[in-house]
Amino acid sequence: MICSVLAAGIRGVHSRSIGFFYHNTFVLQRHKSALSEDVYAYWQSMTSTSDSFLPALNVSNLVKSFDDFRAVDNLSLNIRQGEFYALLGPNGAGKTTTLRMVAGLLQPDAGSIAVLGPDARADPIAAKRIMAWVPDEPMIYDKLTPIEYLEFIAGLWSMDPNVAQLRAVALLEQFGLSKHAGDRCQGFSKGMRQKVALTGALLHQPQVIILDEPLTGLDAGPARQGKSVLRELVATGVTIIMTTHILEVAERMADRIGVIGNGRLLAEGALDELRAGEGRRDQTLEEIFLQIVGVDESAPDALQGNTAVA
Ligand SMILES: Nc1ncnc2c1ncn2[C@@H]1O[C@H](COP(=O)(O)OP(=O)(O)OP(=O)(O)O)[C@@H](O)[C@H]1O
Ligand SMILES: [Mg+2]
Repeated sequence: MICSVLAAGIRGVHSRSIGFFYHNTFVLQRHKSALSEDVYAYWQSMTSTSDSFLPALNVSNLVKSFDDFRAVDNLSLNIRQGEFYALLGPNGAGKTTTLRMVAGLLQPDAGSIAVLGPDARADPIAAKRIMAWVPDEPMIYDKLTPIEYLEFIAGLWSMDPNVAQLRAVALLEQFGLSKHAGDRCQGFSKGMRQKVALTGALLHQPQVIILDEPLTGLDAGPARQGKSVLRELVATGVTIIMTTHILEVAERMADRIGVIGNGRLLAEGALDELRAGEGRRDQTLEEIFLQIVGVDESAPDALQGNTAVA
């Protein structure tokens, strides 16, 4: 059994779980504790250095200008499988523009984007199959009910209707939407619309989930529900890339944090790494963030050595 699994191929993911692939297709995923020692040892040998993590998303020298304004300026990001990555930056920093290019909604001027291996620009359909994108303004259809919306999404993905129905029911339950499953979305609050959009994004079981400010507009209850769903997803090895202005959420949930300003990566690392800079040991993420974005043009050089600047 182990031999056949090894023959099928293993991709090490971040510290909690491991995914099995056969002919580049995701087969199953298991928590590390559920693996036999042989498989675990093999996985460790494949991921023995930090550089050997297979990237979920590799963005290299991405550039996007609107007329003569450069919104994304030579940005490179390397996000690991199974990682919860928070992309932070002030208004207008280029977060949404970057994520829209990753999602294939905006054509970059230059640079490359690879999602779980394949070049997303060369094969956008393959990349989209393993990705989900939830924009900051949820796009759902007012005339549809949540269940109809999910049926529609399932059709777009050519999902087996029985599988889709089971997943739709489970997701609606998970997000507390079951009792509104038959109501038209047009009367829904922003928070409910956000939750419907999230259920639609998760329906096809994406491996990389891109969320642009998913918790904005949610009050404490739904926000907590949303966070717990995201935590559960990461625990199964799914990669989440999220922008947020709620720094407390990034502080508590993210494995690593990237801070961008003027379309460029200013600092990147786990919270502890960001705190490693002089005088930062006891600072909150908010204080560190303000310090990073406050230095503006000189930031990358000024921060070198204090944080993992790309
Ligand atoms: N379609 C567009 N046409 C012209 N300029 C644009 C376009 N989209 C974005 N921009 C500009 O690019 C810059 C980056 O915008 P972007 O939406 O990526 O920022 P952001 O980091 O997501 O900001 P926020 O935190 O406010 O969401 C901004 O100056 C914005 O005005
Ligand atoms: Mg934005």
